[in-house]
Amino acid sequence: MPKKKIAVLTGAGVSAESGLATFRGSGGLWGEYDPQEVASIEGWYRNRELVLGFYNQLRAQLSKSKPNAAHLAIAGLEKDYEVTVITQNVDNLHERAGSTRVIHLHGEATKVRPEDGVYDRTYSEKEVIDVGYEPVCLGDLAPNGSQLRPHIVFFGEAVPNIEKAIDVVADADIMLIVGTSLNVYPAAGLYRYAKNNTPVYLIDPEDVAIYDPKITHIREVATKGMDEFIRRIKE
Ligand code: OAD
Repeated sequence: MPKKKIAVLTGAGVSAESGLATFRGSGGLWGEYDPQEVASIEGWYRNRELVLGFYNQLRAQLSKSKPNAAHLAIAGLEKDYEVTVITQNVDNLHERAGSTRVIHLHGEATKVRPEDGVYDRTYSEKEVIDVGYEPVCLGDLAPNGSQLRPHIVFFGEAVPNIEKAIDVVADADIMLIVGTSLNVYPAAGLYRYAKNNTPVYLIDPEDVAIYDPKITHIREVATKGMDEFIRRIKE
């Protein structure tokens, strides 16, 4: 029998128990920083140094963090299911937990690419440079002589991986959403591409921006919620 397919959409909440801050709510990054300044394309052109500094800090935090039991449980699902993780997170904790199919919707904090061509062409995968956890500064140039920018989908930019993510959700037998407030589109609307008979589970301790009776809400933190999710799909 072919394995059932699970599409997992994750947000900042799945990494909260690894010590990484979420964006909204108390203690969230957007309480301390203005996303229009540090994470938008206009912000980048206005003050590159500020944006580079913000992502240098995220990289430094990431270097000190580890996957938690929820990342590990999601990776562990691959034993019995065909799992694709679609993450809004720019951290690499799913990969480090062992997930083998990960689609990053909003980019990756450990990578950079030349800033030129943001509007006139899409970047080529060959231009993406892995800097690990090293800081990147104003004046650090790509081989083509252009300033390096974070490999992040800034507010105001298109989401290149959305089509791939839609195909994964449309093909899934089970959909799981973990730790996202479902405020940011197009990621928040992805679950609507699931087939009518595909159950959709959400693990989040709080109310989120979307209420839909189709969604079974497990009101737990990610680590505890994963145990409950696994119990339910094995029933
Ligand atoms: P948010 O900060 O908007 O939402 C985080 C969610 O995680 C909230 O619903 C919390 O209730 C939940 N949460 C907190 N602790 C949790 C825990 N231990 N276990 C499970 N859930 C927990 O983050 P996202 O929805 O990921 O984009 O934000 C989406 C996008 O907005 C981000 O990718 C980022 C941001 O602006 C860009 O920067 C492009």
